[in-house]
Amino acid sequence: MRQEERRWWKEAVIYQIYPRSFQDTDGDGVGDLNGITKRLAYLQYLGVDAIWLCPIYASPNDDNGYDVSDYRAILPQFGTMADFERLLSEAHARGIRVLMDLVLNHTSDEHPWFVASRANRENPYRDYYIWRDPVEGKTPNNWGSCFTGPAWEWDEATGQYYLHIYSRKMPDLNWENPAVRQEIAEVARFWLDKGVDGFRLDSVNTLGKESYRDAEVFPGELYGWIWPVVSNLPRTNEHLRALRQAAFTDPDVVIVGETGGVSTKLARRYCEGEERALDMCLSFDHVVAGLSDDRWADPRFCLPELRAALDRWQTDLQGHCWHALYLSNHDRPRPVSRFGDDRPLFRERSAKMLATLLHMMRGTPFIYQGEELGMTNAYFERMEDYRDIGALNEWKQYALGGLVPPQDVLLRHARLNRDNARTPMQWSDGPNAGFSEGTPWIRVNGNYRAVNAEAQLKDENSALHYFRRLIALRHACPVIVYGEYRPLLADDPNVYAFERRLGEAMLTVLCNFRDRTVLCSPMDTEREILISNYDTHLSGQLRPYEATVLASGPVSSAHSKCMNEK
Ligand code: GLC
Repeated sequence: MRQEERRWWKEAVIYQIYPRSFQDTDGDGVGDLNGITKRLAYLQYLGVDAIWLCPIYASPNDDNGYDVSDYRAILPQFGTMADFERLLSEAHARGIRVLMDLVLNHTSDEHPWFVASRANRENPYRDYYIWRDPVEGKTPNNWGSCFTGPAWEWDEATGQYYLHIYSRKMPDLNWENPAVRQEIAEVARFWLDKGVDGFRLDSVNTLGKESYRDAEVFPGELYGWIWPVVSNLPRTNEHLRALRQAAFTDPDVVIVGETGGVSTKLARRYCEGEERALDMCLSFDHVVAGLSDDRWADPRFCLPELRAALDRWQTDLQGHCWHALYLSNHDRPRPVSRFGDDRPLFRERSAKMLATLLHMMRGTPFIYQGEELGMTNAYFERMEDYRDIGALNEWKQYALGGLVPPQDVLLRHARLNRDNARTPMQWSDGPNAGFSEGTPWIRVNGNYRAVNAEAQLKDENSALHYFRRLIALRHACPVIVYGEYRPLLADDPNVYAFERRLGEAMLTVLCNFRDRTVLCSPMDTEREILISNYDTHLSGQLRPYEATVLASGPVSSAHSKCMNEK
């Protein structure tokens, strides 16, 4: 395999923060920038190298900040620019880099560009967005929005439709307009000048729209599923490459693209070579494993599907480009509830197992706040508890519209809705889990007395300490970062297994996805154990949700040396 070029972001672990739900310091029930600054010591203790902040810009909050109304201003609920600058400098002082979330596909309808754009057809901002005439008195095509309903909104005043892939308050920018491209590059430079270290580019797969043909309508749906028609087209790559040249020329600035629907082939187009548009992609294949086109189908988790997705990304990208590793983010249910086992007996063990799997793969691991505690789905039972615009729209369309029994909609959200990941960070067993002295904007998960950072900091065996060890190992063992990936036991129904090799150093990673002991021939108690979620082991077997990493060669010496230096 080709020698991998060294970069800080390949060796890093990146921690994602959803600022609304992280830490409130002013009692308004919404997290803020000073809350993040307050918790930097925790993040430093955990050992992460960088944080990615979900959007903190001025926004009417239709989609919790992904609807930006001013790219150069901080949302007042989150604080001031001075608070941001302090956060940035204190993070840097602790050796933690800061990535911003840049929303490129759309703005808020309250952004001055859109306000001007919709004022009349002649103004210079009209072409900043995508406007179309009606076709036979109807929408220009059958596209549905990702948040349900049509993707086109009628504008009475100017007699045209505008496109919004997300909510109607999030009109899509027209990337074919060079003025739009230039504006966004300037926004990026504005934040780079402040000293940020990189960006997660939101929803970039749909920037370059090439065709406005109708999309396939799945059974039971009202509108066309646009993803295959608009995602990851060559034009998107061209726009992103141009943006890179215009704004991201410093090789130390890392660019991570959220590229829904991307295949490994297209990821290589984005991320390979010197001229690459992105340094790594956030791909979706593994997080949608087990889901079907029928949104009401039971989303059962099945190991072969998850493994097939993760394996494909590991093997297809190595030797070509880098990859972003994640199981959790603000758009997904909690991984321990989706892929692990959140029953009290197995919650912590399976959270550690999933973490081992992810952190031992080739790529840069992302931790989403609370994942390191093994936080679980909130499983809200009432619609009133949900805040997610997608959930509220879906409720209106399907349950209130009489298309689906309300219980089915509630069940779907309990299992899969992204609000499961957006409940407040569980800091302690105190009021509101230590998140806020006010009333939290979204309910706290009921299990915070059992699952919280304060308790886990005191317990050497906690999930939190386990994550800490995984991060320290990454920093100490080059094989974890740069080693070649090789799948093992490809057809095993219970165990996900693989090897990593770098020179003479070799790791064997074994993860049992079952709540019972299973047979596993590579499990060899004679070999050195680099990390495991059990203290004792059985040769040839793995205990319920056991994750064990066996090491041979010079891995462990590097490990003990660096661990001692810490
Ligand atoms: C991305 C974000 C998601 C948001 C959407 C629209 O997928 O992660 O939270 O709703 O883009 O901006």
